[in-house]
Amino acid sequence: MKNIGTHSFSKFSDEYGSLIALEEMKQIPFTVKRVYYIFDVEEDVRRGFHSHLELNQMLICVSGSVKILLKTPYDEKIVELNEPSKGLYIGPMIWREMFDFTPGTVLLVLADELYDEAEYIRNYEKYEVLAKEYFKE
Ligand code: TYD
Repeated sequence: MKNIGTHSFSKFSDEYGSLIALEEMKQIPFTVKRVYYIFDVEEDVRRGFHSHLELNQMLICVSGSVKILLKTPYDEKIVELNEPSKGLYIGPMIWREMFDFTPGTVLLVLADELYDEAEYIRNYEKYEVLAKEYFKE
């Protein structure tokens, strides 16, 4: 699917535990300007319901598990994030919904731009019009 990628990060594990290091333009394919994390989500909650015009993001479920619906007018799939070594890259113009958070889940997100509400598309009908043009061959 366009503008989507799954990444597997190297883990440093020994008898003391595990560590994963992420650096911009290395494991993360963009410069990181913002980090946020989503937690305390009840099991029946579905959130997201938006796309971004230009933002690049990497989602990492550092604890627990969550499912992400990724959608364009032409394609859709569900990716489950359930280990801290797995990264989901989401580029521009992908509609996403997050659901099935297990209790205690922490979803870490790295982004290449600062928060800008004007850069969100939160209306699916509006998204569909713009995305049909964006993804057309
Ligand atoms: P929102 O993007 O709607 O969350 P989700 O898509 O996961 O449901 O963000 C929730 C609230 O947090 C909203 O009021 C905007 C605010 N927010 C920031 O202030 N900075 C940020 O970087 C993000 C992602 C959200």
